[in-house]
Amino acid sequence: MKLSSRLSATEFPPIAEALSWVANRQSNRELLNLCQAVPSYPPAPELQAEFARLAHLPGTGGYTEILGINPLREAFAGHLTKAYGADVTAAEVGITSGCNQAFAATIAALAEPGDNVIMPCPWYFNHSMWLSMLGIETKSIPAFSDAGAWPDVEVARQAITPKTRAIILCTPNNPTGAICPAGIIEAFYELAVEADITLVLDETYSDFRPDALPPHRLLTRPAARDHLVQLFSFSKNYALAGYRLGALVAGPALMREATKFLDTIAICPPNISQQGVVFALRELDAWKAAKKALMAECLAAIRAAFKWPELKYQLVSSGAYFAYVKHPFAGESSKTVAKRLAQEFDILCLPGVMFGPGQEDYLRFAFANVDKEKMAPLVERLVASQS
Ligand SMILES: Cc1ncc(COP(=O)(O)O)c(C=O)c1O
Repeated sequence: MKLSSRLSATEFPPIAEALSWVANRQSNRELLNLCQAVPSYPPAPELQAEFARLAHLPGTGGYTEILGINPLREAFAGHLTKAYGADVTAAEVGITSGCNQAFAATIAALAEPGDNVIMPCPWYFNHSMWLSMLGIETKSIPAFSDAGAWPDVEVARQAITPKTRAIILCTPNNPTGAICPAGIIEAFYELAVEADITLVLDETYSDFRPDALPPHRLLTRPAARDHLVQLFSFSKNYALAGYRLGALVAGPALMREATKFLDTIAICPPNISQQGVVFALRELDAWKAAKKALMAECLAAIRAAFKWPELKYQLVSSGAYFAYVKHPFAGESSKTVAKRLAQEFDILCLPGVMFGPGQEDYLRFAFANVDKEKMAPLVERLVASQS
C-alpha cells in the first residue's frame, strides 16, 4: 500500500510507544505511571450523576451545532469574561472535541503546506505532529531564555520569515510546567501584530495556575481577535479527558474557516459532554478549586522530593501538571534512560526526545497522574537508578 509521505515522516504517538515499554511487565512492584497528563481522580460525583441523567434524555444521542450548543458557548464566554476581566461573547467561542482538535482547526485555518509556524522547544508533541502532517514547517526557538522558563520575544522576531503564519505559546507549559508571565504573552502578541501573523495560546492547564489573576489582558482589547486565538480544554480541569471537550476563542474570520474543518472532522463535539460541561461551569467552581489545591500539593511534594541530597536528577522546571527533569546520564539517549526507568525501576515517564530536538538530557514527569504520597518513593527509585 502506498502511504502518505507526510504521515510516514510524522513520529508515532509518544504515549502509545511509552505504554508499550510496560505492556508485558513482570514486576510485582507498583508502576509509578507519570507518562500521560491525566488527573488521578474521577469527575465530580455530581457531574457523573448529571451524565447519567443526560444519557436518558431523548435528544442526547443527536448531533449538535458544529460550534457547540449555545448554552455552553454562552456559559464558557461568561466564564472567560470573569476570568480574564474582559468581554467575551458566545460568538467568539467555538466548542471542539478536545483542545487538540481546536489546535488542528486553528492551524488548518491559518497555514498551508510550505508555510511555517514558530514554536518554543521543548513543545507539546501533538502540536508538532499536526504541523508535520500538514506539511507546515516547525520553526524551533528555545523555550527557555536568560530571563526564565519562557521564550525570548527577540529570538522569535529573528525567526520570522515571509512564510511564517503563527507563533504558538503553551502556558502553563507542556512539558516544562512553566507559566509565561502576562507581560511576555502580551509582548508576543505585539510581535504577532507587527508581523501580521497570529499568536496561538494553548491554555489547557490555565485552571492550575497558582494565582487567580488573568493569564494576560489581551481579551480586553477588542481588536486582539485579529491576531489571537486561544485554546482550552475541559479534559484536566473537570477530569473529563475521555469525554473529549475543548474550545477555541477567535474572531469571526478564523471561526468561519474553523467551522468547515470541524464539520468535516467530527460534525459536532460530543453532545453529552457539552451538556455536562454546562452543568460543570454552573456548579463545580468549589470542586475545581479543591482539585487545583490538590495539584498544588503534588507540585510542592515533587519539588520537596527532588531536594533529596543524593539525587543526581535535576528538576529544571515545574508547574501545573509537569516536572521537566535533567537526567544524570550525559551522552545516553533520553529514550534509553526512560525505557530503563520503566523496565527496571517501575517508573513510566516520557523521554525529552519526544518533545523536540536537543532534549536528549531530559525527562518529563506528569506528576498529576499520581498521589502526592508517591513523590518520595519516586525519588527513592530515581536514586537507586543512579548506580
Ligand atoms: C498542551 C496541551 N494541549 C492540548 C492537550 C489535549 O487536550 P484535549 O484532551 O482537550 O484534546 C493536551 C493534553 O495533554 C496538552 O497537554
